[in-house]
Amino acid sequence: MSQTYKAVLFDLDGVLADSAREHYAAWKRLADELGLAFDEQKNERLKGVSRMASLDILLEDAPRPYSDAEKHALATRKNGYYQAIIQKVTPDALLPGARQALEACKALGLKTALASASRNAPLLIDRLGIGPLMDFIADAGAAKQSKPAPDIFLMAAKGVAVPPERCLALDDAAAGVLSAKAAGCYVVGVGDADILAAANAIIPDIAAFDPKSYLD
Ligand code: G6P
Ligand code: MG
Repeated sequence: MSQTYKAVLFDLDGVLADSAREHYAAWKRLADELGLAFDEQKNERLKGVSRMASLDILLEDAPRPYSDAEKHALATRKNGYYQAIIQKVTPDALLPGARQALEACKALGLKTALASASRNAPLLIDRLGIGPLMDFIADAGAAKQSKPAPDIFLMAAKGVAVPPERCLALDDAAAGVLSAKAAGCYVVGVGDADILAAANAIIPDIAAFDPKSYLD
């Protein structure tokens, strides 16, 4: 069988796991401690964005500037809150259909790779018990530029030795869709069509992902 696509590159937070909610909870706690306004709407801009870039967005309406040392301490504090949450994560935190989506890819002979901006991704993948279904996990810490730059999706494609244009990419964030698009992948946006307008196709959630439907 000739197959256009040979690999599927997955975002993690908000695609395979409900961890976008956990990131939000950790940022919200920090914002409350700093007395800064932060809501789900602003959080949308943080999705897929690196920790330090997220902090810059959180602090953009702060009444005073923060030094680099202060920012580093705040990012570390948020990460502590997030890690405390994900230490307790079990495979139950997988979104419905996530494991089945990975299994369907493997059954079709497709390579699978993770293209998450999160430096906590390896820990979370381990807690979720889906490591054996992933052929490669791109190292967010090694990406020169974070999403929306293409780096992490290019690294994921390279990790499974498939050209980006022969990869499907799934992401739930505007920054992630732009990143995968810039890498040259066929992009399936997971979530709201208005937010993910740049995607090639939209599905409401990972349960709706049928890899077979994208193959010849
Ligand atoms: C993902 C999430 C973002 C998060 C980023 C960095 O892209 O969507 O909300 O800020 O990863 O995560 P980290 O675990 O490295 O702080
Ligand atoms: Mg995401």
